[in-house]
Amino acid sequence: MEKLLVGLKRLEYRGYDSAGFAMDDNEKWCEDDDDDDEEEEGGDKKRHDAKKVIVCREVGKIANLEALARKELFGEDDDDENEVKASKSKSSNGRKKSSSSIKPLDFCASIAHTRWATHGPPNKINTHPHTSDSRENEFVVVHNGIITNHAPLRAMLERRGMKFETDTDTEVIPKLCKFLSDKFEESGEKDVTFRQLAMEVTRQLQGAYALVFKSTKYPGELVAAKRGSPLLMGISDDSGEVSCVIDGNLSDGAEEDVLLKKASGNKKRKSMTGGAAAAPAADADTTTTTRITTTTTTTTNNPKVEFYFASDASAMVEHTKRVLVLEDDDVCHCHDGTYKIYKVEKQKHPHPGYTSGHDSPEYGLYKPVVLSKEVERTIETLEMEVESIMKGEFDHFMQKEIFEQPEAISSTMRGRLVLDVLGAAERVMLGGMSQFAATIRRSRRIILCGCGTSYNSAIAIRQLFEELTELPVTLELASDVLDRRCPFFRDDTCIFISQSGETADTLKALEYAKAKGALCVGIVNTVGSAISRATDCGVHINAGAEIGVASTKAYTCQIVAMVLVALSLSEDSRSKHTRRDDIMQGLLKLPGCVKECLKMDAILLELAQELKEEHSLLIFGRGFNYATALEGALKVKEVALVHSEGILAGEMKHGPLALVDKHMPIIVVCTNDGSYEKQQSVVQQLKARDGRLILIVSDDDTEMEKTAPDAVILRVPKVEDCLQAVVNIVPLQLLSYHLTVLRGHNCDQPRNLAKSVTVE
Ligand code: AGP
Repeated sequence: MEKLLVGLKRLEYRGYDSAGFAMDDNEKWCEDDDDDDEEEEGGDKKRHDAKKVIVCREVGKIANLEALARKELFGEDDDDENEVKASKSKSSNGRKKSSSSIKPLDFCASIAHTRWATHGPPNKINTHPHTSDSRENEFVVVHNGIITNHAPLRAMLERRGMKFETDTDTEVIPKLCKFLSDKFEESGEKDVTFRQLAMEVTRQLQGAYALVFKSTKYPGELVAAKRGSPLLMGISDDSGEVSCVIDGNLSDGAEEDVLLKKASGNKKRKSMTGGAAAAPAADADTTTTTRITTTTTTTTNNPKVEFYFASDASAMVEHTKRVLVLEDDDVCHCHDGTYKIYKVEKQKHPHPGYTSGHDSPEYGLYKPVVLSKEVERTIETLEMEVESIMKGEFDHFMQKEIFEQPEAISSTMRGRLVLDVLGAAERVMLGGMSQFAATIRRSRRIILCGCGTSYNSAIAIRQLFEELTELPVTLELASDVLDRRCPFFRDDTCIFISQSGETADTLKALEYAKAKGALCVGIVNTVGSAISRATDCGVHINAGAEIGVASTKAYTCQIVAMVLVALSLSEDSRSKHTRRDDIMQGLLKLPGCVKECLKMDAILLELAQELKEEHSLLIFGRGFNYATALEGALKVKEVALVHSEGILAGEMKHGPLALVDKHMPIIVVCTNDGSYEKQQSVVQQLKARDGRLILIVSDDDTEMEKTAPDAVILRVPKVEDCLQAVVNIVPLQLLSYHLTVLRGHNCDQPRNLAKSVTVE
């Protein structure tokens, strides 16, 4: 249970509405119907029968689940915590037991889940694991993703007498397990394995899923299956006995660039380029959007082997760094100390006598029909330290990640901004992208595509892309691409930007662009993620794990990574030599300038104290800093829960000016660049309407305080215009952080949001 709870805590940042787990009851056997919890000496019969499965669920944070579990399973109240932590050994009816009376488990297969509700409210009933029936818990399942055909499946199962208890889409899965398992038995198919059964079930499912199945019918076994939602498997094996299979089917790119380092068998497929820092794999969501964590251990063959499945490497990095990334339609079966991975093969002619959920025929005999073949997947070594997913000396992840930016930006540039002997930046080297540079330069246009903060980083970089590539550059919100069925063409280059690499909208837009034949490039933080694997080439931003729901360091690193891309695409242009050189030298100074900005923390705290009761905040920016206005406003609204609007300053007179009065706090980004004079005029007009002004200006500015003597002035280091957005966002990040804390909200887990939005 400890391992499950720790795993859930590591994944909590991605869903925190409710949580639950299922594990074997060490004291009760499925055929042991009385409530006597005296342990029976294990005869043959006992040894082969399954233990009963305990399912424990609670609403809210993992801490609530933990408290409930300790109380209900161990009869422990808060005062007992230390004692029970030491012994973990009370009977299921609450009587304490001495640790000497506990029998060690021969094997253990447990599953757990933390939920971000999308279908059905976040109550106890809708919390995973879901079961085939809540009394026997014969089949229990955790699910991350969304089952789009759950309604016809449910109707079909209800017609056959199955009773549903939850509002979730997931519940059809354990019910389908039970239904098919019984049908196979009735049809004389006695030898159907757990893996076969899971394949027959997943064959019925449409949508996205990462699933882990557990069953009293298959004690000690786990089956994991994935399509569309991320799923990693970790192997902790001190003895080295577990068979390791090698295959090269992951994106890796330049040797120094991979975060997930291949253990061996390193076949290169493609070319996302990365750097030094580590990042977790991403996670996905469901009808109940979710996080899965599971473990199975066994002593059957190898006393030391443990297998972990999780949506995110952070759930397992404490136990093992040996991971493999499961691919779509993979089904992994763990039992008897070993694992095997099978790939489901597409079938043209499914066996008759089978129920599909849509047609629901009553044909009679039921046989397993799914064809599959055993496949190999590469075991890789995670280059991720536990510390990277801990808060360390900081109070919150958001705060930590804001302060990590100087180092994160250096990490994005490391090995890519090549220096000469005197330490000046000489050129840009993006190993994985170089072979695609000519194709990109020949494109008809470049499309930058992402959601939320990642989209804002596209806005921040658009102007430089246009300037350096001299190509038309358009922006697309990923969530709009399919709705509009955007005209993408085979001579387009589409650049997909994503921190998590798993955002469903971005992934769908990527699939759409691929289908149209466009060249697809990824700017992604998470190595091994779906977007980094599906793109033709790209750049890993190497910002390190970002845990806070509000994206901070990923934003600045995305901009830096895209500056590098723009520089590398224009390296042959003689006319741009001086401009390129200025940008490259500017990049070198950037981490230091961001560090300077971070020294404004106390000033921003003071400003947050002034603004904490406000209900609205406007932020004006233009040119390179229109993105700063949008991103600053997004931060304020998503974590401080204050209405905030980022506005293109040029649009002020076309509507927003009506909102301005002496009560309205307004931030104007007016650092010294090509838009400076226009911004000065904006400040004058806002002042004329009595707006409460806060001005972000360059450190050497002397004009703005004369233009608006009553304004709060925030001075930031001046850098090259196209890099200024990286510096200017820092005070706004700090402001939103302090506003959130002062207003008593949780900046790392803001209301209604989750880190990875893996459902459309
Ligand atoms: C950022 O603070 C938000 N949490 C959100 O807008 C996020 O940037 C968006 O969901 C895209 O995520 P991605 O970068 O992981 O694709």
